[in-house]
Amino acid sequence: MSAEARRPAPVGEWPVGRGRRVLVATPECTAGAALAGVLRGHGYRATVAATGAEALRAARLEAPDAAVVDLELAGMSATELIRALRAGEETAAAPIIALSTSADAAQRLAGLRAGANDYLMAPVSDQELLARLATALALCPQKAGLLLLVLGSKGGVGASVVAANLALALQHAGRGQVLLVDVARPQGALDVLLNVRPSGAAAQLLGRLGELEPGDLGGFFTPHASGLQALLLEGAGPAPQPEALRSLLATLRQVQDLVVVDGGSLLDEPAAALAELADRVLLVLTPEIPAVRNAKRCLQWLGELGVGPGRVVPVLNRYPQPGGLPRGDIEGVLGLPLGGCLANEVRLVAYSVNRGVPLAASHPQSGLARQVAALAGSVTQVAGGGEAPAPRLLLRLPFVRRLSQA
Ligand SMILES: Nc1ncnc2c1ncn2[C@@H]1O[C@H](COP(=O)(O)OP(=O)(O)OP(=O)(O)O)[C@@H](O)[C@H]1O
Ligand SMILES: [Mg+2]
Repeated sequence: MSAEARRPAPVGEWPVGRGRRVLVATPECTAGAALAGVLRGHGYRATVAATGAEALRAARLEAPDAAVVDLELAGMSATELIRALRAGEETAAAPIIALSTSADAAQRLAGLRAGANDYLMAPVSDQELLARLATALALCPQKAGLLLLVLGSKGGVGASVVAANLALALQHAGRGQVLLVDVARPQGALDVLLNVRPSGAAAQLLGRLGELEPGDLGGFFTPHASGLQALLLEGAGPAPQPEALRSLLATLRQVQDLVVVDGGSLLDEPAAALAELADRVLLVLTPEIPAVRNAKRCLQWLGELGVGPGRVVPVLNRYPQPGGLPRGDIEGVLGLPLGGCLANEVRLVAYSVNRGVPLAASHPQSGLARQVAALAGSVTQVAGGGEAPAPRLLLRLPFVRRLSQA
């Protein structure tokens, strides 16, 4: 990752790519890696494929927001790939930029006729690529809802309380339909925190993806009185398959405006799949040495996954507290500014937890509910200070068919 990608972005400022996924299809490994590096350095998520077939598989799985296709692709030719991307529901509207190494205008024309929006001549200037991509994406309606992953730096730091209250604050803010997903293991808590009964079928959802139509998904959600929907996948069973989890979440964020996931505190493969997909990872910690040390380790783990500081929001929960570490020391250890500081409201939170009514509903004027509402505002802001436009529902993907084809 480039030094720029590691630069901590202040909370409220989102890098230009805003976590959008770009598929780079090129037989040139070095050039592909370099392009992906430039894109990642500017906040995109990039997947590189060396053949047309590989690119198509990745497109079906990840539903990229844009594609950069080298016209020299072999096997499945670049024009075949572009046509297939245009024909696929996931990528029909995604901007495609063709890369040409040839002076032959006929090659570029074939790419444009197949459905590419634009072309660039190789060797590509980083600035030109970024500018063309940003323009192409700006002309394209925003497709994906925001995916916010809440992770605990260790067990018991309050990840579930934060996730539930954040989701409700977002729902109250009128930013669209919010889905709260519980994948925390070994045991989730959102059913208790929201006082809802998990749909018995939800635990089976990941195992049944292959037999479901997208329209069936709503049947696995549990409605909450606030209008929030919950999908309670947690349970003591085996860890979910990362690929199934990734496909499910990628689909959910395309059909929901906002998806908040309680990911628990295990840094395992399912959590890695979610972190890679998430627009923002909220890392919850408390002002105690074990939680801070684990948060530091978690930041390192996220960095190795390619989830840089620009996408991570450390949230200090239960602060201040008697004997707890000071905020400045914690920021020093993490090397990142805190994105939120939530009060230690023992009585209020115990009341809320035991009644199954999040504070955002029972005590919206309390200091803690206001702090969570401010956090909800800052994690949905984009560079320039404006609020992210409410994502639109565009495609209801037949993700199951895609999964079985993948
Ligand atoms: N801001 C807060 N003020 C006071 N108490 C809090 C706060 N946040 C959480 N708690 C307390 O911490 C307990 C654990 O919170 P929560 O279940 O959200 O933690 P967790 O990190 O999700 O734990 P687990 O690892 O079990 O999933 C809550 O039941 C509540 O008593
Ligand atoms: Mg929890």
